[in-house]
Amino acid sequence: MERFELAGELQEEIRACVMGEGFMKLVQSVRRNGKQFKISLRPVEIGGERKFQAEMTDNGQVQVKNLDAAAAAEGLEEIIAQRGARDLHLMGATGDLHIRVTKKGRVLVSRSAAMNRTVELRPHDRVKRLPLASFDSAMLLKAVGIADGEGRVRASMRGKYDQVNEFLKVVGETLPHEPPERFTVVDCGCGKAYLTLSLWYYLTETLKYPKVRIIGIDRRGDVVAAARKMAERLDLGDKVVFVEADLTDFDGCIPGADAAGGAPFSADLVVSLYACDTATDEALARGVEWKARYILSAPCCQHELQKELAGRSGRVNLPSAPFAGLLRQSILRERLCDILTDSFRALIMRILGFKVQVIEFVSSEATARNIMLKCEYAVKPGQRGTVSEYLELRDFWQVSPWLEKRLDRMLAKYFSRFE
Ligand SMILES: C[S@@+](CC[C@H](N)C(=O)[O-])C[C@H]1O[C@@H](n2cnc3c(N)ncnc32)[C@H](O)[C@@H]1O
Repeated sequence: MERFELAGELQEEIRACVMGEGFMKLVQSVRRNGKQFKISLRPVEIGGERKFQAEMTDNGQVQVKNLDAAAAAEGLEEIIAQRGARDLHLMGATGDLHIRVTKKGRVLVSRSAAMNRTVELRPHDRVKRLPLASFDSAMLLKAVGIADGEGRVRASMRGKYDQVNEFLKVVGETLPHEPPERFTVVDCGCGKAYLTLSLWYYLTETLKYPKVRIIGIDRRGDVVAAARKMAERLDLGDKVVFVEADLTDFDGCIPGADAAGGAPFSADLVVSLYACDTATDEALARGVEWKARYILSAPCCQHELQKELAGRSGRVNLPSAPFAGLLRQSILRERLCDILTDSFRALIMRILGFKVQVIEFVSSEATARNIMLKCEYAVKPGQRGTVSEYLELRDFWQVSPWLEKRLDRMLAKYFSRFE
């Protein structure tokens, strides 16, 4: 037997445990040239089937893959065949096995006392309360940086964790329970893809949608590159794609994907979480143009209307004159503009045939930015009452909402009856 090599019986014991019912976890750490490489393997239940989750940490970089039994057995052979100084810890229902291979190649074996542990395969829909706990989200949270290496939600990421959970709750309440045959989602202004990647797991593993395609769009090349890396680490590179583009320019062409045979791009669900300023309007407009049945949009900062109204604060001959005192105070003006902008957005979406609910999707104690426009294409477009409400509000404030300018051609036929 060579130095560093595990004895044949030991190898057999490891194989039998990992492939058997009592397997809980295997972790091997290798130290080389001052760097540490760690691989862990554990059984998980995915879609009702027993699979294996492999997590590789190479000098701080984490990569996670879900494997079937054959691929796990192959991976295990590589783990067993590893050379050099290393520690291997194998946990099973009947006890633990520790193997330490020293720098000189000596193999030291120790075992725990006999145990009688119950092996619980962690089903992905075990905890229903939080969407991110309705599937096994540990690898996702670690890969996107919401959780640390131990799987604990980082204090600095608690806000994002809550936002994504609450967003997913609304997704769960909104989407049909009967899984559609295929489902396309676009995340507009996806940033670092916390929501985008969480959506994939939630739709496929909790709602059991069989064929999901998710596209994250962001105009920042650096965040798109980071999001792509994360998707690859999670083995989702071909399922969740990221496109570097301005929302205005995205035409449905995904680099490397087959063209859709000339058919216009369409989506079932369009989401946006804190897409800055008019990017929220753009997400709503794209949702309309892509004929999305569902649009869920949590707006962020809004500047357009503020700029328009700011210039009025000192003037008295405008219809907004009674509001001069309010407009003069920047904080109050900002809040008024937020409310007005979202009111215009909600009315425009209603005019275009969407049932719209404005909800507080996350607690106001967590963030003041807690509004979401929840839209479902479900009502008759162009209803007179809604159109006149919109025009009266707009004309009272003598403003030009950005979403109206963006969708003017679609809105024109409904407005023409009132002019
Ligand atoms: C505040 S971040 C939110 C990111 C992510 N949705 C989240 O909640 O973590 C807003 C993102 O929208 C992107 N963005 C803003 N305007 C955009 C536009 N017109 N087209 C594409 N992306 C845009 C920004 O680059 C940024 O990454």
